[in-house]
Amino acid sequence: MKKFSVVIAGGGSTFTPGIVMMMLENRDRFPMRELVLYDNDKERQAVLGEALSILIKEQAPELKFSYTTNPEVAFTNRDFCMAHIRAGQYNMREKDEKIPLRHGVIGQETCGPGGIAYGMRSITGMLEIIDYMEKYSPNCWMLNYSNPAAIVAEACRVLRPNAKVLNICDMPVGTLRRMSQIINKQPQDLEVRYFGLNHFGWWTSVKDKEGHEYLDEIKDYVAENGYLTQVEVDTQHMDPSWQETHKKAKDLLAINPRYLPNTYLKYYLYPDYEVAHSNPDFTRANEVMEGREKQVFTAAREIIEKGTAENSNFHIDSHASFIVDLARAIAFNTHERMLMIVENNGAIANFPDDAMVEVPCIVGSDGVEPLAQGKIPNFEQALMYQQVTVEKLVVEAYIEGSYQKLWQALTLSKTIPSAKVAKDVLDDLIEANKDYWPELS
Ligand code: NAD
Ligand code: LMR
Repeated sequence: MKKFSVVIAGGGSTFTPGIVMMMLENRDRFPMRELVLYDNDKERQAVLGEALSILIKEQAPELKFSYTTNPEVAFTNRDFCMAHIRAGQYNMREKDEKIPLRHGVIGQETCGPGGIAYGMRSITGMLEIIDYMEKYSPNCWMLNYSNPAAIVAEACRVLRPNAKVLNICDMPVGTLRRMSQIINKQPQDLEVRYFGLNHFGWWTSVKDKEGHEYLDEIKDYVAENGYLTQVEVDTQHMDPSWQETHKKAKDLLAINPRYLPNTYLKYYLYPDYEVAHSNPDFTRANEVMEGREKQVFTAAREIIEKGTAENSNFHIDSHASFIVDLARAIAFNTHERMLMIVENNGAIANFPDDAMVEVPCIVGSDGVEPLAQGKIPNFEQALMYQQVTVEKLVVEAYIEGSYQKLWQALTLSKTIPSAKVAKDVLDDLIEANKDYWPELS
């Protein structure tokens, strides 16, 4: 079997150790000859890089491993780039969350004004790594799960339309794991139909391979409990704030009982509740900084100190194995069915062709082929049209340096009550992001 050469962009990410260990565990399905970490923050990456080089020497000595901040070294001779960068890191995520809350509106990583602010930062970082990839390894594929995925995907569509970038999100994967527990199945036994935008969609069918439909059974459970299940399903979405999010799906189903909702819809459909239940002094960024970030970097430092990764506190991120499924689909033409973020082009019949939507696709060596999801009802269509227009305005504002368009984007967001509040939030975000955003006039 061919062995692949992989670069992870965002090598200093809190997810890097879990994903590297997941890839090591999946070596029989996706063999690697070389693995390189790339980050633009040397000190942050070095901690994880050193610890992982100790771990890889012990667990996969045949694998060539290194870490670098040099783009040419990172991107030369690569088959795949797994991209999980966070432009501005946690310091800026904290501002994305806290600034809007000061104005009484949703402060969140990818939804509402926080997502817009993060999007304006991410576009620059994503274009940078795509350009490195295309310069040094023109045949390389980028599997991107950097957020905010909807805005990043729209920016790629407009600014790098021919780049070999596939945008994917782990939220539908995580929720499907919960659904499979609800009906006592394995996620791989289930096939779904789904339509929406990233972090903004609905499951319209959840069937087993024999064609039995479980939608109603799952809805009955969600109407009572949300997606909260008794058994621990993954390690990523288990913090207290996430438990609340899974529970809240119950109220999302109440307003729209036809389909099963993506949990992120709560920020658009219950923004007042979410603001009232947020602590403006301690947001998700603080929860991650005090939780996952501290845990991962402490574990890395311990490995370095001891000189061994035996009994370490690095944990395999097995829920991320969908990334290997995606790489395998491209590498071995497996025609895997996966939810991907793609240009609509008729997949949702009554939605604009040029919208970046999230739908099931068949993935093979030539890339993704979206599966037709038919026409969608008015309620979902109207919500999606509003949101996709926000995302398009953000990308236009970025390209044109337009204050007006970004103000319109914030005003149109369902999370913001008026143009006045939108302007107040925007002016504070501009001040906070002056080292990252293009200048707006
Ligand atoms: P993190 O801050 O721990 O790590 C991100 C790393 O990216 C940092 O080390 C940072 O220095 C680096 N970086 C930033 N800009 C860069 C650039 N231009 N070039 C190279 N490196 C750069 O963040 P995290 O919490 O580990 O999250 C990483 C990313 O993964 C985020 O975008 C997050 O939203 C995303 N994520 C996506 C999913 C999904 O399925 N879509 C799920 C979870 C997290
Ligand atoms: C979140 O807020 O949960 C996402 O950014 C992913 C994570 O675990 O941080």
